[in-house]
Amino acid sequence: MSERFTIAIDGPAAAGKGSISRAVAAHYGFAHLDTGLLYRAVGAKVLLGMAPEEAALTLRAEDLEASELRSPEVAQAASRVAVLPAVRAALLDFQRSFARRAGGAVLDGRDIGTVICPEAEAKLFVTASAEVRAKRRHAELAAAGETSSLAQVHADVLERDARDSGRADAPLKPAADAVTLDTSAMTLEAAIAAAIEIIDARRGGSGGA
Ligand code: DC
Repeated sequence: MSERFTIAIDGPAAAGKGSISRAVAAHYGFAHLDTGLLYRAVGAKVLLGMAPEEAALTLRAEDLEASELRSPEVAQAASRVAVLPAVRAALLDFQRSFARRAGGAVLDGRDIGTVICPEAEAKLFVTASAEVRAKRRHAELAAAGETSSLAQVHADVLERDARDSGRADAPLKPAADAVTLDTSAMTLEAAIAAAIEIIDARRGGSGGA
């Protein structure tokens, strides 16, 4: 199969991008890249003492599999290294090649529709209120055995939002041609169905693979 079709899914922390992206990729039979994991893997190496640019330039596939990448400390470290233009530049080519791979691709992150793949055929900006996002992330962390309080998770989400939206290089913002999907009052199933409806419209109503 040689179809090139890129689905860009951007949005703030804990809006549901990851779950929606995985489901959308499975629906269309496309490859999926969680670009946040790249920044988390760089952040994790920096926490261990490596310089940010070196960490980004030497990133390997196995670095993306470490279980601690989901921790709140690594999330904050990821958001901090993501401000650095040299780190973003080091990760650019890999993401761009992934986006245009044969067979279709779904990428989720902050700057996919604006910087990584402005030519993406379908762009979604997935968002939800900070309260809802904090509650969802708190439940996920609790299920994984993390003990952060809801207030702490809420503060972390707001801090990352401010840093990710306020940076000069590739800030978090919807692309001009993105469709915004506010999942605050939606179940995950409803959000996935809404995302597929939006993407089908961009695919000329051709439906799944
Ligand atoms: O999506 P996430 O929460 O795993 O992302 C972790 C951090 O990485 C996020 O706070 C900002 C950064 N990031 C980014 O700057 N650009 C992306 N495309 C993806 C993530």
